[in-house]
Parts: sequence; C-alpha cells; structure tokens
Amino acid sequence: MKAAVIQDYEAPIEIAEIDKPILQDDSVIIEVHAASLNPIDNILRAGHLKEMMALSFPHVMGYDVSGMVVEVGASVTTVKVGDSVLARPNQEDAGAIAEFARLKENELALKPAGLSHTDAASAPLAGLTAWQALITKGDLQKGQKVLIHAGSGGVGTYAIQIAKSIGAYVATTTSARNAELVKRLGADVVIDYKTQQFQDELSDYDLVFDMLGGDTLAESFKVLRKGGTLVSIKGQDTEGLAAKHNVRFEWFFMSPDGKMLSELLALMDAGAVKPVIDRVYSMDQSSDAYDQLATGRAVGKIVVSIK
Ligand SMILES: NC(=O)c1ccc[n+]([C@@H]2O[C@H](COP(=O)([O-])OP(=O)(O)OC[C@H]3O[C@@H](n4cnc5c(N)ncnc54)[C@H](OP(=O)(O)O)[C@@H]3O)[C@@H](O)[C@H]2O)c1
Repeated sequence: MKAAVIQDYEAPIEIAEIDKPILQDDSVIIEVHAASLNPIDNILRAGHLKEMMALSFPHVMGYDVSGMVVEVGASVTTVKVGDSVLARPNQEDAGAIAEFARLKENELALKPAGLSHTDAASAPLAGLTAWQALITKGDLQKGQKVLIHAGSGGVGTYAIQIAKSIGAYVATTTSARNAELVKRLGADVVIDYKTQQFQDELSDYDLVFDMLGGDTLAESFKVLRKGGTLVSIKGQDTEGLAAKHNVRFEWFFMSPDGKMLSELLALMDAGAVKPVIDRVYSMDQSSDAYDQLATGRAVGKIVVSIK
C-alpha cells in the first residue's frame, strides 16, 4: 500500500509502497479516507521521545484516522465490513497517512453519517485530549470558570466547545488574528497573549487547561481559586507551585478510548462541537502539511485527504 513514511529519525517524509497491516482478532482493517496531523507526530519524528516511544522503520506518519472497514477480526462484534469508523489508535497500530490502517475494536468509534471523513479525522487525538483534560482530569462542572490556553489550536478549538457544552464560562488565550474564531466557538473572554498578560486579567478560576508549558504554566497557578485545578499536557510543576497556591496539579498523556470518542461524536453530531479545519492536503503533500504544523500557527486541525 501507499503511505507517508520516514526511514529514520529526522528523515524526510516520503511516499513509499509498504506492506498492509495484518488483521488481528480484536481489530479491523480500514481503508483510510482521511488522516489528521498532531504535534506529537513531529516530536516522535525528531526522536525526542526515543526512550519512551521508540519508532520502528519505515514508520508511517500520523495517528488520527477516519475510513471504512474492509476486514473484521474474529472476536469483533460491534462493527462490520462497510461501517465508517474513526480512531486515535495505540502506538503499535499508529500509522494514519496510508491507504489502510488497523484499529482495535475498543479504540474506534462509529462515524456519524452527517460527519465527513475529513471532519471525523480531525477529532480523535485533539478531541480526546480536550475531553480527558476538562472532564476526566479537570472535573469541569456547569457554571465553573475555565481558562483554556491556545484556544485556536487543534486541541484548543475542541476544548472551548466541549467546555461550553458543559455550561462552563470560558476564557482563552490566542493572538488577535484568531480572536473572532474563538469567540465564535463560544469563548466568553479572549486574551490576546501578545498584548495582554492573562494573569493580570483573570482571577478565581476553577480550572486552567495548559498546553504551552514554561512561563505560561507557571503563571497559570496565579489565576486559580484555592482548591482549583491546573491540568497541563505540556509541562510539570517542577517548582512545587501547586502546593504554594493550594491547588491541584495534573499532567497527563492522552489515551485512546473508543467509548469516550463516541460521546464526543454525539456532541459533534448534534452540532454542539464543530471541527475547525485549517487546510486539507493530499497524501503526496504530506511533507508540506507537516511543515505547516511545525510553524505552530495552525488554526484548528490540518488534515490529509487519502481517498
Ligand atoms: N500530553 C498530551 O497527551 C498531548 C496531547 C495533544 C497535544 N499535546 C501538546 O499540546 C500542544 C498543543 O497541541 P495542538 O494540537 O493544539 O497544537 P497546534 O494546533 O499546533 O497549536 C497551534 C495554535 O497554538 C496557538 N499558540 C501558539 N503559541 C501560543 C501562546 N503563547 N498563547 C496562546 N496560543 C498560542 C497558535 O495561535 P496563534 O497563531 O494565534 O499564536 C495556534 O493556533 C502541543 O505542544 C502538543 O504537543 C499534548
């Protein structure tokens, strides 16, 4: 099959012919219609997580996929050939920008008919990360105040809309060019991080969702009420600031979960969460797509259309 691969860490992305994934009893094989990009793909490609998540080569780029089931494993009961499904698969099954992918039954979700493969492929990794940060780790409740950093990014655009669907009051940071977008997604307060200091503008927040780390993470403790929560997907509380501010700190790495993905898809099907797609590339343009992602300026998600 055709796939966007790298032959080594830091190697250029090339389109190559490689073997199709082999069906396993607990899995399905899908014909991939669309894939989406995430910063972790470039982080792995650069070899920054070699010790934790070693790659084998050729490595197929990408995690997020949406496509149609073409083969079903012996123990699979909930999906059949012809179903449209999507997932952020586990590390072993990763490899999205390819003609075929293997997905475990418990990691996939059925694609609502009203959602295109392009929109569906944008959802799994960023959507699950936002869901796990706000709901699983952050325990966000109706009426609470949450600050979501980088509201215009892949994770942020999902996070704002999920938080609004819970009934939370949402502040977000972004640059001026994306202010209208994040307001449209439901943000109640928009902080331009280039001209304003969020820690001077906000106080008594119940939850902060940080995806920037560094100073942003350290300063975020200041906007929380006592007993509030800071959830980061980017950095650790190395200075013990949580104890100093009397708040809870959580760092986590997102995990695949088909059931949780289905809950997010129900919100998307109802129109409460709308994907924000920056640009759609072809498989042959995968390298350009990753260059755009690496600028850190993507608005929402970057998608590769495959079929
Ligand atoms: N631990 C985990 O499980 C996990 C999971 C997913 C993602 N992550 C990490 O979370 C981060 C965000 O992921 P993503 O997919 O959302 O990335 P992304 O889509 O590439 O984020 C790009 C967005 O970030 C905004 N941005 C950049 N600097 C900012 C700043 N200082 N303040 C506010 N906004 C800023 C940009 O807006 P402007 O152009 O307006 O600056 C842009 O819209 C990445 O570092 C990723 O590796 C971790």
